[in-house]
Amino acid sequence: MNLARITIFVSLLLVEFCFANNGNLDISAFGGKPNSDIAKALSSAWTQACASTTPVKILIPGSTYQMSVLELKGPCKAPIEIQIDGTIKAPADPNTMKGAYHWLTIGRVDSITLSGKGVFDGQGANAWKRNDCHKNYKCKGDSMNLGFNFVNNSIVRGLTSKDSKTFHVNVISCNNFTFDGFKVSAPNNSPNTDGIHIGRSTNVNVINTDIATGDDCISIGDGNKKLTIQNVVCGPGHGISVGSLGRYEIEESVEGLLVKNCTFKGTDNGVRIKTWPNSPVKITVSDMHFEDIIMTNVRNPIIIDQEYCPWNQCKKQNPSKIKISNISFKNIKGTSSALEGVVLSCSSGVPCQDIEMDNVDLTFNGAAAKAKCSNVKPKIIGKAPACGDGVSAGGS
Ligand SMILES: *[C@@H]1O[C@H](CO)[C@@H](O)[C@H](O)[C@H]1NC(C)=O
Ligand SMILES: *[C@@H]1O[C@H](CO)[C@@H](O)[C@H](O)[C@H]1NC(C)=O
Ligand SMILES: *[C@@H]1O[C@H](CO)[C@@H](O)[C@H](O)[C@H]1NC(C)=O
Ligand SMILES: *[C@@H]1O[C@H](CO)[C@@H](O)[C@H](O)[C@H]1NC(C)=O
Repeated sequence: MNLARITIFVSLLLVEFCFANNGNLDISAFGGKPNSDIAKALSSAWTQACASTTPVKILIPGSTYQMSVLELKGPCKAPIEIQIDGTIKAPADPNTMKGAYHWLTIGRVDSITLSGKGVFDGQGANAWKRNDCHKNYKCKGDSMNLGFNFVNNSIVRGLTSKDSKTFHVNVISCNNFTFDGFKVSAPNNSPNTDGIHIGRSTNVNVINTDIATGDDCISIGDGNKKLTIQNVVCGPGHGISVGSLGRYEIEESVEGLLVKNCTFKGTDNGVRIKTWPNSPVKITVSDMHFEDIIMTNVRNPIIIDQEYCPWNQCKKQNPSKIKISNISFKNIKGTSSALEGVVLSCSSGVPCQDIEMDNVDLTFNGAAAKAKCSNVKPKIIGKAPACGDGVSAGGS
């Protein structure tokens, strides 16, 4: 045999070997060994899977691995599943992340499934120690655990994101993307460790998911549409938040959010919409419905805050130009850890419109919690706190 023939023969053998397990690509066949950096192996397996014209599954078996910064990019020729049953650890030293925005980025693919009982462990403790974002709003963030950019028709099923250096998951410009049975876990004092951030995406679903972390449970950025959050437990953390919006000129409106059958345990906020005063753009926030929610010892169970201005970085005297409309709070029960369980602080420039409270039953120290409202006249159905005294309920 000449060299070319030997090469072809060996290549065929390799292809056969790699597909041997029912057509699955086990990363061990690409050199991905326990207790070693599997970035190269996963990248090679991805290249092969991505070229396949039939669906392929990549397997990361139950063991502990390291992984350096990695990006898996499409477009690919057929659906790909990555089943992760092991624990994958990020570098603990944030300086070795090369300034990467995400530890693992998945971009420009259609029909990818991430599944399994595996864990992405961001080993964030060192990054949290140097995080100064609470006092420096231009702080440079460390890598987020997982980023999905321009990904369509895809699912994350099972899996855990643990101790991310900053946000755990960042979903941007995705369509029809579902998290089911997902889990996020980080200590309540870990800074900026939002569970799932979703922006500029359409038809994202977060269901049957449990998020315990140090910052927002789920945060929703500009341009997002038709998001469903159902059967989700949040806590500890800062709750579900739309925004903040109105800080940058390039922002787009946010419309369509259903939060249903969710529980908040000891979170700073329950459900929140926050916009900056003096916003450079006139966008809208509309069609958001929060229902069947249990609050346990939550500081601000329901809050619309159109004067959101941390670090005093804005001119509070200029009201927000963001119009909030068609928002409902229905069947919301439980305990508030502040007297004002409902705060509807709307813009004096563009008052909130079509805000409804239907059966909102919150207690503070055993008595009914109160509502504080400005620039809004909520429609009250069933039991709900009346907007408090001494507050300007202008607008309509
Ligand atoms: C995802 O869907 C959008 C909108 O339909 C489309 O423009 C984009 O090309 C799709 N991306 C991929 C990777 O299929
Ligand atoms: C959404 O994505 C799922 C998972 O890939 C797929 O089964 C379903 O058909 C997609 N829905 C639409 C409307 O394309
Ligand atoms: C509500 O969510 C919980 C998880 O928090 C789940 O166990 C329960 O089945 C859900 N109820 C309904 C009616 O979907
Ligand atoms: C309010 O939001 C719901 C849910 O998105 C939508 O079906 C309804 O048409 C909206 N109402 C108005 C007046 O826009």
